[in-house]
Amino acid sequence: MGISFHLFLLLLAMSFQYLCSSSSNVLTLSVEKPEDVIVSKNGMFSAGFHAVGENAYCFAIWFTQNPTIIWVANADQPVNGKRSTLSLLKNGNLVLTDAGEFNVWSTNTESSSEFLELVLENNGNLVLREIHGSILWQSFDFPTNTLLPGQQLTRPIKLVSSRSDTNLSSGFYKLFFDNDNILRLLYDGPSISSIYWPDPWISSWAAGRSTYNDTRVAALDSLGHFSSSDNFKFCTSDCDLLIQRRLTLDYDGNLRVYSRKHEADEWYVSWQVKSNPCKIHGLCGPNSTCSYDSKHGRTCSCLPGYRVKNDSDWSYGCEPKFNLSCNRGESSFQLLHYVEFYGYDYYYQENSTYTKCSNICLESCECKGFQLNFENDKGTFTCYAKLLLLNGQRLPGFRGTTYLRVPKGMNNLSSHIESGGECNRVNFVKFQRVYTKEQVSSFQKFFLWFVSALGALEIVSFFLIWVFLRRTHQKSITFQQGYHPATAGFKRFSYAELKDATRGFSEEIGRGAGGVVYKGVLSDQRVAAIKRLNEANQGEGEFLTEVSIIGRLNHMNLIEMWGYCADGKHRLLVYEYMENGSLATIVMSDTLDWRKRYEIALGMARGLAYLHEECLEWILHCDIKPQNIFLDSDYQPKVADFGLSKLQNRNNLNNLIFSTIRGTRGYMAPEWIFKLPITSKVDVYSYGIVVLEMITGKSSTMGIQTVDGVEEHHGSLVTWVRRKRSERFGMASWVEEIIDPEMEANYDINMMEILAIVALNCVEESKDSRPTMSQVVEMLESHENVIPRDYDGS
Ligand SMILES: *[C@@H]1O[C@H](CO)[C@@H](O)[C@H](O)[C@H]1NC(C)=O
Ligand SMILES: *[C@@H]1O[C@H](CO)[C@@H](O)[C@H](O)[C@H]1NC(C)=O
Ligand SMILES: *[C@@H]1O[C@H](CO)[C@@H](O)[C@H](O)[C@H]1NC(C)=O
Ligand SMILES: *[C@@H]1O[C@H](CO)[C@@H](O)[C@H](O)[C@H]1NC(C)=O
Ligand SMILES: *[C@@H]1O[C@H](CO)[C@@H](O)[C@H](O)[C@H]1NC(C)=O
Ligand SMILES: *[C@@H]1O[C@H](CO)[C@@H](O)[C@H](O)[C@H]1NC(C)=O
Ligand SMILES: *[C@@H]1O[C@H](CO)[C@@H](O)[C@H](O)[C@H]1NC(C)=O
Repeated sequence: MGISFHLFLLLLAMSFQYLCSSSSNVLTLSVEKPEDVIVSKNGMFSAGFHAVGENAYCFAIWFTQNPTIIWVANADQPVNGKRSTLSLLKNGNLVLTDAGEFNVWSTNTESSSEFLELVLENNGNLVLREIHGSILWQSFDFPTNTLLPGQQLTRPIKLVSSRSDTNLSSGFYKLFFDNDNILRLLYDGPSISSIYWPDPWISSWAAGRSTYNDTRVAALDSLGHFSSSDNFKFCTSDCDLLIQRRLTLDYDGNLRVYSRKHEADEWYVSWQVKSNPCKIHGLCGPNSTCSYDSKHGRTCSCLPGYRVKNDSDWSYGCEPKFNLSCNRGESSFQLLHYVEFYGYDYYYQENSTYTKCSNICLESCECKGFQLNFENDKGTFTCYAKLLLLNGQRLPGFRGTTYLRVPKGMNNLSSHIESGGECNRVNFVKFQRVYTKEQVSSFQKFFLWFVSALGALEIVSFFLIWVFLRRTHQKSITFQQGYHPATAGFKRFSYAELKDATRGFSEEIGRGAGGVVYKGVLSDQRVAAIKRLNEANQGEGEFLTEVSIIGRLNHMNLIEMWGYCADGKHRLLVYEYMENGSLATIVMSDTLDWRKRYEIALGMARGLAYLHEECLEWILHCDIKPQNIFLDSDYQPKVADFGLSKLQNRNNLNNLIFSTIRGTRGYMAPEWIFKLPITSKVDVYSYGIVVLEMITGKSSTMGIQTVDGVEEHHGSLVTWVRRKRSERFGMASWVEEIIDPEMEANYDINMMEILAIVALNCVEESKDSRPTMSQVVEMLESHENVIPRDYDGS
């Protein structure tokens, strides 16, 4: 029986192969003939029409025994149960036709060969090729939600989960390599997108991933070893056995490897990426909480006062049964113990109280509630005001309380919590080894969270942005509370390591007040700029404190610090290396058109605003100059060398007087000379000078060529620009007089005027007349959208 069955399959497989090369040269599989199935030679896989609903079919590949779908041609567009066909046309195109009329899917292939074959190989790959010739198309290149052993996930490919257990259409979860070569899982919901693996709040480096291999390829082998070009590797709980396996991105967002020893066996889970499904974004939808225990699985519940939007699909979440008024007198707060919402805070404050935090929340219409977390180490509460109630989790033992904003008089609703019971659970055999290790939270997670969510979050206005950027958030009971001085990805190097990396400090690339900068290659092949600080009289403890603060700073317009070395008397800092060099080397060249200059000015302002106001500590740069502004390959500016000046505390801002003058001649604010208190406005001044240099193409310290060719030795760049402006006050043409001749007439005079006015504002003699860095950002951003759309930033 077994043999004859096998033989039958074999014959069937053969017959389809040869059908293709027969005289008609066309293969047709009909949805109406259940026997029209292509079977692999070993009998393990089958391909054919699979019913997905009433009178709805998809063309799919499945494991023949205990059928498990592993690939679908037309998941989002099932075809009719009548007159639908899969046909291999003479011209080499494989086409799926719905009801004999519409093409819903095709391979878009072409071949002039007379002999084509469509073969389902023993590994589950459906291949269309010229006989003994080249492959025209193969299903392995277009996976849906499953990778089979040997099948590669490559650069253009995404695994996309299905919508549910029974609905094969595209769901919300994706596995793919992102632009920085990291394999990630994304929740791409109806209104919000967010990365949930690797944990968004830890750096790729800390997650053990490498961004430096742009091969972008990952695969599982039949022994259960998975390996990805970003260094992510695992071995299943049953690894090194040669058995059937598949890697599937399930509809619940969990990535799992399933195994079975015999074809007749049930599949069991031999690896999964998340042991707690509540850590997967979007499962319970907005305005709900997720709870999990190993016995009952996952449960979704609506918040009190909310009702579920779609009983059969929790991903839609819950909606309020009430209308919230903006009027502060008409709101009250419902207390929720042990509930935390992750992300989407628009306000954050340490050492807060219920009164302070609720007042903050009541001031904004957008506030949906707030969270007060107890910081164990400090004995104080931290306030997080929420813009959206997403990723809610009920965590027994969570040391925080959520206060949900509800209409007045509705704050005693606890008995009415609407519970969703169990939502979609995946059944699997008990899973023994747990591989997912949640990393300790770190400073960056909030920023990263924000970035990943921003794409979908169009409602975020400017005012929210600055608040967003400034905070981080502790994650759950199992994590340390509070801030962590250094991210896990921030490394301490030994002196010997750095000496090796720089080949004995041989390639000098810069020299500043603080020390000399060398180019080096770290042991993981990353190219770094390594700054060797001058012999410090600073103690190691003090150095570490400062360095750990600098290491926490994370902004796209700041140079990233990867680590440091404090070895004996040696003090070194390790930064990312910028290929394009500094602004100083290219500001005078014609590679910078007016748009780039504007964007660079804006980027610099963002980086500095972050340093001054948005990061955890107030940090003055004190040495802004073109030599300290680096450009990445997209001409995004990155500010370097920050944090080396004394770190400043917001509170004693006004009585701070530096004992020694810092900075560089030509860029220094008058406060230094007159020994006035040093504030963030010294950076604003230096910034203004740099921007003036970018506009005029003239150096602040060089003599000024006037229009009639006579050199002026006594005026500075600032007085020269000011004079030009007052001479022609009210006329845009004053800008023409100062603009860098390299730009010829190719610039937008209005935009350059805005930039020039902002820069002049920044170099006011009196610090109080200068704007803050975030005001500069605001001014430049408000005109940024004037830049024509076709501008591609490069
Ligand atoms: C499957 O899900 C999609 C998207 O939510 C929906 O449009 C479709 O109707 C569903 N199909 C079935 C058979 O439930
Ligand atoms: C990049 O990853 C691929 C696949 O994992 C590997 O073969 C290759 O050696 C890696 N390249 C580098 C430079 O590490
Ligand atoms: C609820 O979800 C199901 C399954 O996705 C869908 O078919 C149905 O249309 C949804 N109902 C509403 C009211 O959105
Ligand atoms: C969640 O609740 C807020 C009010 O708190 C409401 O504005 C929002 O529309 C709800 N989200 C969904 C998806 O219904
Ligand atoms: C909320 O407002 C809408 C429109 O303004 C109204 O139709 C609805 O009845 C209100 N709901 C409640 C619970 O007051
Ligand atoms: C918290 O603030 C109060 C006053 O608002 C102050 O007395 C207390 O010292 C602060 N505690 C900490 C740890 O900063
Ligand atoms: C809230 O409800 C509980 C019982 O559900 C009751 O004991 C308590 O007195 C109520 N509180 C207020 C302020 O109404």
